[in-house]
Amino acid sequence: MSDHSKTYPVPEAFAKQANLTPEKYREMYAASIADPVAFWGEQGKRLDWIKPYSVVKDVSWETGDLHVRWYSDGVLNVTANCIDRHLEKRGDKAAFIWEGDAPGESHTVTYRELHTAVSKFANVLKELGVKKGDRVTIYMPMILEAAYAMLACARIGAVHSVVFGGFSPEALAGRIADCGSEVVITADEGLRGGKRVPLKVNADKAAAIAGGVVKKILVVRRTGANVAMTEGRDVWLHEIGATVSADCPPEPMNAEDPLFILYTSGSTGKPKGVLHTTGGYLLWASMTHEYVFDLKENDIFWCSADVGWVTGHTYIIYGPLANGATSVMFEGVPTYPDASRFWQVCDKHQVTIFYTAPTAIRALMREGEGPVNKTSRKSIRLLGTVGEPINPEAWEWYFHVVGEARCPIVDTWWQTETGGTLIVPLPGTTDMKPGAGSHPFFGVQLILVDADGKELHGAADGNLLITDSWPGQMRTVYGDHQRFVETYFTAYPGKYFTGDGCRRDEDGFYWITGRVDDVINVSGHRMGTAEVESALVSHDAVAEAAVVGYPHDIKGQGIYAYVTLRAGCEADDALRKNLVQHVRGEIGPIASPDLIQFAPGLPKTRSGKIMRRILRKIAENEFSNLGDTSTLAEPEVVNDLIENRQNR
Ligand code: WT7
Repeated sequence: MSDHSKTYPVPEAFAKQANLTPEKYREMYAASIADPVAFWGEQGKRLDWIKPYSVVKDVSWETGDLHVRWYSDGVLNVTANCIDRHLEKRGDKAAFIWEGDAPGESHTVTYRELHTAVSKFANVLKELGVKKGDRVTIYMPMILEAAYAMLACARIGAVHSVVFGGFSPEALAGRIADCGSEVVITADEGLRGGKRVPLKVNADKAAAIAGGVVKKILVVRRTGANVAMTEGRDVWLHEIGATVSADCPPEPMNAEDPLFILYTSGSTGKPKGVLHTTGGYLLWASMTHEYVFDLKENDIFWCSADVGWVTGHTYIIYGPLANGATSVMFEGVPTYPDASRFWQVCDKHQVTIFYTAPTAIRALMREGEGPVNKTSRKSIRLLGTVGEPINPEAWEWYFHVVGEARCPIVDTWWQTETGGTLIVPLPGTTDMKPGAGSHPFFGVQLILVDADGKELHGAADGNLLITDSWPGQMRTVYGDHQRFVETYFTAYPGKYFTGDGCRRDEDGFYWITGRVDDVINVSGHRMGTAEVESALVSHDAVAEAAVVGYPHDIKGQGIYAYVTLRAGCEADDALRKNLVQHVRGEIGPIASPDLIQFAPGLPKTRSGKIMRRILRKIAENEFSNLGDTSTLAEPEVVNDLIENRQNR
């Protein structure tokens, strides 16, 4: 991340109408730190409680007794907050505006219609035998039924696990098995950028791989494709949906009852099931959505993420609906039918707040200003980004070309684990520095430390830690509490380790510099290098593999794989293609290696540990700076690696 000295003030017209001011931010932030229990006790009132809480915070980050509980004796239901409580005043307001993959297909759902759709869907789940606490896997395209399915789970107290529709049957099966999900909700096919995605076929394969776990598959008709239905297991939503009532009262849930599991990659092992619960998560989704996006009653809010990621959970579904806002849900991709699509959709639905990922901005930037300039975009007043550091060049383009210097940009740093935004230049409260996450959200306490855990003060560069809990924090790794403790609270005992590096500049702005662990961020998709390695090693020809990230113009990071073959295997392009296909099959297209280098040996320490630092440097093209290689078991392998480096 290059340094960037430019500073932009909040555009004047925006500042005049902003919900927050710099003073208000400082005041609220100070209050949130001085007395968290009083602050969060008050904020909790933004939700409707069936039984009010008397305990606000019950948290210990001590590794021996690690627990995170907020509002733990309160009782509420997420959908009562996201739907029912709006019916009186906002019954006819659009809850969702759905925009299909192909232009011309769109559909609006009011809060009243949402209430009916979700109640019916919830009764369908009950018909299928789903009970409070059961896990339900949702493997869907970006259609309204994906939202209904999530909300239907929340209505009856089932725990949803949404799996991104781009994951392979293998990956889906692993997630189904890990949480013991007996019901899977899918569609005949998905539609993205004019291409069909065989979701039901994949779900069938996954059910077979998961071996008897899956008892029911609920299928939504999207494309009308002819798909096989297994008697006794598979059910069409439109058939069973016609038989159920539209009356389904919301299940009273404890604030700490699980709301959802979402699998995400770590630096080791298989993906972990991040568990979020009911009260604290919803509060965080709602509050951050309101403040981060300067929300007003008539906003049309569009978050372009997929519901398969946490961004879609928090800022397409739960945050906007908890706030009674109108949320745009888009089935397609930014470049279909052409690179003007995002802005055409903004014009069509008069979007006022637009939130996307740096990788999309960079891909569109490459197409030039033409596709942007032929649209109006006058309705937009605020822009946002999420998922990875935004390079200043992309920020400038987004600000000047898309937003015509009229719209502030909120660069939101957060993680699947954090539930919602933690670092952000709250609009109207601060100057903007292109590429800087800027300042902590209310209640968030950040510190930077060096490798030994010593706190760094003033302007500094180090590892980013958080020193106290916030209501939206993940509660555990599903089924593996010890892994929760080890992953986040062991490197720096008593503190939450984000896995990110970060710089604080002389003005106190925070700049996220990227992951410092073996996690890579490809087009905003988080991946463990260990997962890609284990996919490669499961191929017959592969003896050993090491995967690292390298800078990529569009994706942010690309995937660079060093592969050592078994004796007798031919190192050629056909095998390269074959390995890419294999990884796509094991994980999904998002994990496809960009470059594969066949290597007779990998650099290892004498104790056999692969020296990734060296592999990273070679992939990054920085041979001059390999550091100390004298501890390698076979120093000569490094020269071979450099000579045969794959071009990018
Ligand atoms: C990792 C979390 C936040 C939801 C989507 C990704 C990186 C995320 C930013 C940002 C710099 C960012 C971090 C983080 N990241 N947002 N605004 N600036 N880096 O969630 O898949 O859990 O990934 O994404 O490295 O640790 P995720």
